[in-house]
Formats: sequence, C-alpha cells, structure tokens
Amino acid sequence: MQIITSITSMRSLAGSLRQEGKRIGFVPTMGFLHEGHLSLMRAARQENDIVVASIFVNPAQFGPKEDLARYPRDAEGDRKKCESVGVDIIFTPSAEEMYPEKPGVFVTVEGLSDILEGAIRPAHFRGVATVVAKLFHIVQPHRAYFGRKDYQQCAVIKRMTKGLDLDVEVEVLPTMRESDGLAMSSRNSYLDAAQRKKAACLFRALTAAEELVWSGVREPERVKQRMRAVIAQEEGVEIDYVEAADADDLSPLATIKGSIVLLVAVRIGATRLIDNLLVV
Ligand code: PAF
Repeated sequence: MQIITSITSMRSLAGSLRQEGKRIGFVPTMGFLHEGHLSLMRAARQENDIVVASIFVNPAQFGPKEDLARYPRDAEGDRKKCESVGVDIIFTPSAEEMYPEKPGVFVTVEGLSDILEGAIRPAHFRGVATVVAKLFHIVQPHRAYFGRKDYQQCAVIKRMTKGLDLDVEVEVLPTMRESDGLAMSSRNSYLDAAQRKKAACLFRALTAAEELVWSGVREPERVKQRMRAVIAQEEGVEIDYVEAADADDLSPLATIKGSIVLLVAVRIGATRLIDNLLVV
C-alpha cells in the first residue's frame, strides 16, 4: 500500500494507471475510519482494479464554531484498516497542500445546499462540493463511493458531479449501524456512555416513523410528530430538525407518496448527530 501526500504525485500516478487501462475506485474520507468506511472500501475493492482512499479533514466544510480542531484522528489505525481491506493507495494531503491560499474558489450546488443541514451549517456543503471536486480531479476515479448516512451530502455530490459533467460514477451504499441501530460515525466517539445510550433514539424515531408510513399514514406532519415524540423520551437530546422529504431533491412533502427519505438531526451535549431512512 502506498501513502501519497502530494497532489502532483497522486495526479501523475492516477494518470499512469488510467493510461494502463486500470479502473480506479475511490473512497473519500476524513479518517478515523469505522466499519461504514470499510464497507465502502470493500465494495471499491470488488469492483475496481485499484482502490484509492483519501484521508483529509477538510477545513472548508467546518464552520468557525464547529469541531475542526477536535475532529478525531488516528493515522496509524487508519493505515492498518485500509491495508486490511485491500486499499492500494492512501492519498492524505495536508491542509496547506490542498489549500495553499485561503480558498477563494468554490463549487456551490445551489438550493440543495441551503436546506436541512445547510440551513444549520452554512457553507458546509460548499466546502464538501469543493473538496470532492478537487479530489475527483486529483484522483481521477472511474467510480467513487459514499455512505447513505450523509444523505444530503450524497445528493449534493451527485448533483455537483452531474452539473460539472465529471466523468465519475457516484455510488451510494447503505448506512452501517451498531447493534442498537445507531448509525456508525466518527463523531460517535465524542459521546460518553450515557449519551451513547441516548443516541439510539435517532434510529428508534426513524423506524417508528417508517412504520407509520407503511401503515398508510400520508400526512408528513404526523410522521414528523412521531419522530419528535420518540426523541422527546430521551432527556438531553435536542432536535435540530426532523423531516420527511422527497428522496431525490429533498424538498419537503405536502403528502407522502413515492420514494421518500426520513431525516433527523439532533444535539446531545456538544455532539451533533444525523441519520436518515429511505422509504421506497
Ligand atoms: O463524508 C465525509 O467524510 C466528507 O464530507 C468527505 C466526503 C470526505 C468530504 O470531505
């Protein structure tokens, strides 16, 4: 396994690999890898000749009051995990390498970036779309893999890829969960034992809402109310939003029909958690 930190080296290696006719699968990450990331890497391993994983904690997607400084990092653990699932190349540039100057060039996916997570974290999706576009140009993958846990991020990246005519297939794979349903996330490491227990209420809320939809309820407000009620049973879990939205463009629904996505975002102490469930 090769570890590359320079953009020039990564770009030139990717170019040579493509010239040799190799298919490049790419898993962009911010490190502190868990089973969710590894499932993406395993899929990339099965479907491509070369697997590249990037590990880069992207400053451009963190707000000034967010957790950039304390975002968990484990370079050595990540290296071993990548090796264990057959990653060929880790691309792990520094912030100075990716942004030698204060970023002044951004990719913005309008509309989709301003709702839900975007309404609470302004500039977050601009930072995500910008870094993913840069990484796509550097790594030159045929196919890139993302986890459905970040549903809105996946929608933004798909739209960015299409809008910029980037020749990359964006693959979205299911959320990996702990045994109590909590979606795997690097940020779960912030939770103490009591908070960790409470965090399972996100999945309980989503599955309770899903049951209502399956039982034939068509009013989004009733479904959202059910999510709020389940979360309210856990003291100290503050809701940022619950939503029932169109699965494609995430617009809020007047009535539940077709493919929908149930979304939830909460704060437990200083930790923000998001989750979702696709109901098709
Ligand atoms: O989901 C993440 O880890 C990040 O948002 C991503 C896609 C690697 C961009 O920094």
